[in-house]
Amino acid sequence: MAAPAGSIRPQRVYPSSRMIPSATPVRDQFARPLGSLRLSVTDRCNMRCSYCMPETEYTWLPRASLLTFEELTRVTRIFASLGVRKVRLTGGEPLLRHGLPVLVRELAAVAGVDEIALTTNGLLLRRSAGELRDAGLDRVTVSLDTLRPERALVFSRTANHADTIDGVRAAREAGFAGVKLNTVVIRGFNDDELIDLLEFSREHGAETRFIEYMDVGGATRWSMDDVVSRERMLAIIESRYGRVDALHDGGPAPAERYRLPDGLSFGIIASTTAPFCRSCDRSRLTAAGTWLLCLYADDGVDLREPLRGNATDDEIAGLIRSRWQQRTDRGAEARLGIPDRGVLYQVESLRADPRREMHTRGG
Ligand code: GTP
Ligand code: 5AD
Ligand code: SF4
Repeated sequence: MAAPAGSIRPQRVYPSSRMIPSATPVRDQFARPLGSLRLSVTDRCNMRCSYCMPETEYTWLPRASLLTFEELTRVTRIFASLGVRKVRLTGGEPLLRHGLPVLVRELAAVAGVDEIALTTNGLLLRRSAGELRDAGLDRVTVSLDTLRPERALVFSRTANHADTIDGVRAAREAGFAGVKLNTVVIRGFNDDELIDLLEFSREHGAETRFIEYMDVGGATRWSMDDVVSRERMLAIIESRYGRVDALHDGGPAPAERYRLPDGLSFGIIASTTAPFCRSCDRSRLTAAGTWLLCLYADDGVDLREPLRGNATDDEIAGLIRSRWQQRTDRGAEARLGIPDRGVLYQVESLRADPRREMHTRGG
């Protein structure tokens, strides 16, 4: 049964492990702390958004290579001992991972982790929102690029757009506060829907974040011509509502938040034209256990091998600490300086190493 709005989440308890959350997080070469961890729990998806999975064929990770819930919990405990306070579950589509509420319950018991969030396309949210909330999930973000079913059919190859809309409703009914909606804005596709999407967020008590189309792995059709910049988005919104105020509320990257004259707030994630690398405290783990220190990183650190071998928690913590301390990544900023910026990877390169796909490294 769904927890009532505002219900108290399960209390964090110290596990029997010796890993104790650190008071001072590990810092990289630019003094950026290791603060947030994105766990991709599956590379599979039940949609095919054109900015993420535009191809017709994909090679999936073998099931045996996926980290088990036990491994994910153990590694999260190790990350928490190094300063991680926020965990976001991603995919592919994370709700395709069987038994996800069980994992959430285990992660909710990890000492030091203050927030567990989920980014989902919402198609399967209705059936598990209550269970996820009861298990200790704190926040939900639903990807919603259009309000028009016929567009979703072409753009994301789903005939079930109504289920995503219902998923947004289900999240609220399950008691999640501050549901966020992610909209990747693409010229000529949905840049005429910004106002409708804002009104939808108002109606559903959610906050929309408009995202600039990014040249990440997987986006093999990306072109700068298709990017709608933050400036352009703000101009469209102001032409309808009047002056928009930046909130400068020091909220966590990546979104810059704004308020309409009538009080409605929304965010813009300008990763393409105004990256937030200098304050980036996030790293990500693919479903098969490759730890990536940047969304744009070519390669990562294999944590599955030590997790499945004889490495102790302290040894794995030592590996993570030393790699983070060496970190100099500023992937999105580096892309800014590239003349005639084109796609990050050609499709052959993604096929050769699917860990470069956005749906494998978790958005
Ligand atoms: P919040 O903490 O709720 O703000 O979550 P989030 O924005 O990190 O999560 P979400 O999964 O909703 O991602 C929103 C957008 O930010 C997506 O378009 C991502 O591709 C983009 N994004 C996520 N992580 C990174 C990153 O490490 N670097 C860059 N440049 N963009 C990212
Ligand atoms: N550009 C911007 N955002 C993207 N996402 C996936 N691919 C891209 C891209 N090329 C977003 C999804 C989801 C989040 C995890 O990442 O829309 O909301
Ligand atoms: Fe799937 Fe999510 Fe990528 Fe869309 S953004 S194709 S829903 S992984």
